[in-house]
Amino acid sequence: MPSKSPVIVDLKFIPQEVEAALKGAFAGREVINLADVAHQGRALSGIDYAVVWKSDPDLFSRAPDLKVVFSGGAGVDHVLTLPGLPAVPLVRFVDRSLTTRMSEWVVMNCLMHLRQHRAYETRAKAHVWEDLSQPEAADVTVGVMGLGVLGQDATHKLRIMGFKTIGWSRSKKEIDGIETFAGDELDAFLGCTDFLVGLLPLTDETRGIFNAQLFSKLSRSGPFGAPVFINGGRGGSQIGADILAALKSGVLGAASLDVFEQEPLTKDSPFWDMDNVYITPHVAASSDVKALFAHVEQQINRFESGLSLEHLVDRKAGY
Ligand SMILES: NC(=O)c1ccc[n+]([C@@H]2O[C@H](COP(=O)([O-])OP(=O)(O)OC[C@H]3O[C@@H](n4cnc5c(N)ncnc54)[C@H](OP(=O)(O)O)[C@@H]3O)[C@@H](O)[C@H]2O)c1
Repeated sequence: MPSKSPVIVDLKFIPQEVEAALKGAFAGREVINLADVAHQGRALSGIDYAVVWKSDPDLFSRAPDLKVVFSGGAGVDHVLTLPGLPAVPLVRFVDRSLTTRMSEWVVMNCLMHLRQHRAYETRAKAHVWEDLSQPEAADVTVGVMGLGVLGQDATHKLRIMGFKTIGWSRSKKEIDGIETFAGDELDAFLGCTDFLVGLLPLTDETRGIFNAQLFSKLSRSGPFGAPVFINGGRGGSQIGADILAALKSGVLGAASLDVFEQEPLTKDSPFWDMDNVYITPHVAASSDVKALFAHVEQQINRFESGLSLEHLVDRKAGY
């Protein structure tokens, strides 16, 4: 019986987490963790599989025989831009824990804006006891851009919290209890949206989509007047300078940003010091590394049994 192909692991995650998750993973198969100095400079030809996140640009020239590439995250923009990416199936990471984490982040941020959390934090620091008028979730329409795995789960959980929820995607979706918009219905969707949530992949079509023109089309008739922008998708989909200008001019009332055009966000970025902006360092939905390896193992088993791979990326669409 031919021996099983090794799997290359090239993940720029927390190294200790990768090492811990590798214990017991990929039974009967050698793992070449490129973070391990023992594998530096090792020949990688003849190997079928690689799991990657922010790989070094020479990975595919070092490993020219890959049959399947696995993304270490739900997004694949970091893989599609790698030099020499072979024309083989690219599988992205879809996982219950990742999906749940993103919905937690989205719901948390919608609630923090709804419940004016920053205003109360500021008052608490100054020992000021003062109540502010309190709209409820049902007074706010949250518009989610991107109704894929993450967007659909987030809309479901936002509804449970009582928010009116609508969504926009490339192709029309039928989702219980949610008004959906597609393609060129974007302006109508924006006109109804008080809190805008970005859960789009970064593609040629979505690059820079969150810009001044788009912000100017959002609803201003919500309980807080100015709309709120919440982005958990990709930084390349937003124009940071336009967000700053919109926050300063009042076109946007507040924002929550997990992703930025340039990461890490530079120390001198004005976003850090803005009262009406919540910042997280691209952690809205980190991949659970153990779950990632279980998913890769499952897909390799399918592939080697002649079954079709799941969660395949459409290379032309870019996601
Ligand atoms: N911040 C974080 O920690 C973090 C973690 C994980 C993922 N993410 C980001 O979240 C993104 C979404 O993940 P997912 O699993 O939900 O992806 P997905 O299942 O592929 O869904 C993508 C959604 O975006 C829509 N879309 C794509 N291009 C569009 C366009 N040009 N116009 C309108 N809609 C468009 C798709 O429309 P269709 O339904 O019509 O195809 C789909 O509804 C990932 O790509 C990644 O960048 C961020």
